[in-house]
Amino acid sequence: MKGNVAIVTGGATGLGRAIALEFARRGVHVGFNYVQLEERDVAAQALLTETALRGFGVEVYSAVCDVRDPQAVAAFVEAVKGELGGVHYLVNNAGVAHDGALWRLSDDAWQEVIDTNLTGAFNCIRAVAPTFRKQRYGKIVNVASHQAYTPGFGVANYAASKAALIGLTRAAAVDLGPSNVNVNAVAPGFVKTELIARLPAEVIERAEKESLLGRVAEPEDVAHVVVFLCSEEARHITGQVIVVDGGLTLS
Ligand SMILES: NC(=O)c1ccc[n+]([C@@H]2O[C@H](COP(=O)([O-])OP(=O)(O)OC[C@H]3O[C@@H](n4cnc5c(N)ncnc54)[C@H](O)[C@@H]3O)[C@@H](O)[C@H]2O)c1
Repeated sequence: MKGNVAIVTGGATGLGRAIALEFARRGVHVGFNYVQLEERDVAAQALLTETALRGFGVEVYSAVCDVRDPQAVAAFVEAVKGELGGVHYLVNNAGVAHDGALWRLSDDAWQEVIDTNLTGAFNCIRAVAPTFRKQRYGKIVNVASHQAYTPGFGVANYAASKAALIGLTRAAAVDLGPSNVNVNAVAPGFVKTELIARLPAEVIERAEKESLLGRVAEPEDVAHVVVFLCSEEARHITGQVIVVDGGLTLS
């Protein structure tokens, strides 16, 4: 993988940062994007991530780019290619949650989650597809969620977006397979990031107890699987979802 280029959306924080770092550890140059989130210091985190990535001796390009905006995504992909010399891997990690009981979900809460988690991934796949097809090489990994299979209470928008992302994964694998492009997804259970820090402590404690392995994932537990799916060891896997949840969905 050394010397190749990865795009990680939402790569400034949490799981995206862990994925970016795992690529860098393997000598992969990284382009990542992000948006500012309410009550979060994403721009400051982006600087820290950039510094940590450079510590591995790889090249880095980062920019504010909203995956919901197809023009911005196309410009970001071109900038990564210009700055880092190409693109070989795309990880659609950017995602948001706006939870609430279904009968109280606002139009905005529904739309923002679908636009980011689903349409955002589509925008990014479409933007890299011409390059991947031309070079007859590319790996795409979409970050879904266990909530696509076993939703908790109040996640209708999130669960729908992640289930649809799995549908998109399988459809993109069909369209891009003949061009030697693998498209897969991971479905993490709860992962220790700022996203779940806002959930009530009981929810996390229950998840720990209910998962067969008795723990909640560290971001690295998921990052290793994402980067494996981009490696040549996984070259015969496409259109699949790997559930990385410590057995939560089985319990
Ligand atoms: N933390 C968990 O328990 C968990 C479990 C399953 C799946 N996931 C998924 O993992 C992914 C990463 O989540 P996280 O836990 O690291 O949370 P996070 O909030 O730390 O990271 C999300 C990142 O996405 C970026 N982002 C949000 N909207 C964007 C947009 N429109 N355009 C570009 N970037 C945008 C943010 O800037 C942020 O850096 C998400 O897709 C999430 O749904 C998380």
